[in-house]
Amino acid sequence: MELTKQEQAMLDGKEGYAVRKSMEILTALGEIFGAKSLIDVGSVQVAGVSYHNLGDAGLEFLNELAVDGRVKVLTTLNPAGMDLENWEQLGISPEFAQKQNLVIDAFQRMGILISCTCTPYLIGNLPLYGEHVAWSESSAVTFANSVLGARTNREGGPSALAAAFVGKTPNYGLHLDENRAADIHIQINADLPKLSDWGALGYVIGRKAENKIPYITGIKTADLDKLKSFCASVVTYGAKPLFYIKGVTPGAEQQIQPEQSCIIEQADLKGAYDAINDQVSDIDFVCVGCPHCSIKEIQEIAELIRDKKVKDGTELWVATSRTAKQLADKRGYTATIEEAGGKFACDTCMAVAPLKGRFKALATTSAKGCFYSRQNLMKTKMGSMKECVEAAVTGKWNN
Ligand code: F3S
Repeated sequence: MELTKQEQAMLDGKEGYAVRKSMEILTALGEIFGAKSLIDVGSVQVAGVSYHNLGDAGLEFLNELAVDGRVKVLTTLNPAGMDLENWEQLGISPEFAQKQNLVIDAFQRMGILISCTCTPYLIGNLPLYGEHVAWSESSAVTFANSVLGARTNREGGPSALAAAFVGKTPNYGLHLDENRAADIHIQINADLPKLSDWGALGYVIGRKAENKIPYITGIKTADLDKLKSFCASVVTYGAKPLFYIKGVTPGAEQQIQPEQSCIIEQADLKGAYDAINDQVSDIDFVCVGCPHCSIKEIQEIAELIRDKKVKDGTELWVATSRTAKQLADKRGYTATIEEAGGKFACDTCMAVAPLKGRFKALATTSAKGCFYSRQNLMKTKMGSMKECVEAAVTGKWNN
């Protein structure tokens, strides 16, 4: 890989330890994937924030970098292992909270925005069409590539951090035109009225388009919440973090229809629900907001739960960014949800909080949430926002 004089100086340690370490990571990645050079990035999204996943070794690594590592571009943070303010209310232990705060402190010293959300595009980290960025977190990467038309590979935590300290990333993979062409055509002959239908669709397409870029036809319209749900699901279940929907997402009209094709019918979606849903009727955990809830979703929850009560023995978590919650506070949605017994889980989510063994059965709108909650040993049910709120109020799943 060819380096400029300035990049070589960074690799030689002229800008300190963190930048040298970062250049070592970026040049190693570039060599492995055949990049010819580094390119500037407009922003970075860093995943690997939960102490639950990092452990003491991860915390030590971050502290070493935080001594002289300062980010060169706008850098936002993925969810942490707890709500940074209301962790006690969510049943997080003081020992975990102390370690998680040390992780956050290290990121803060690096100059990273402590946003702790997987929807950075809803809080101001919004890349332009064609802009190169270095994001980690699969749903955010897919949203950036597909809905915004920005360009990013699916970075890991360390390579994203390295890009933040250097302001550059190796130019390979989804940064290059030749790797962004769709390679499977998917025709949708099914209705998708519910938010969870988009999670189910992501499951079906992810499986059919394993490691491919889907070009999707047959969808007339999709709002932001449906697209973010689809982004989370399609990549979790196997596709590359880029898709095109004809008439909906940017760049779709320029795609040449791929030869390989398949049709998705209503029965395929039902099959996805059958695969994602376990045989369980008692629900002790309802968590919505995977990816993090938009203000519109919080409004919907508030309207559905007004004058109702979350059943004793069941918890309702609304996972969202702190920024979205602040809007919800002003509009009265927070008060309505909390009066009903619901809890806000800002800065965190059901996949990265230490939840293993705490709950038996989850209800959610999210196919990705089901995938990770099974790893946390929960039975799972996926359905509409209405069905989830109903489950929180009754403690039962009704079908
Ligand atoms: Fe976001 Fe956590 Fe889901 S990071 S996409 S809420 S698994």
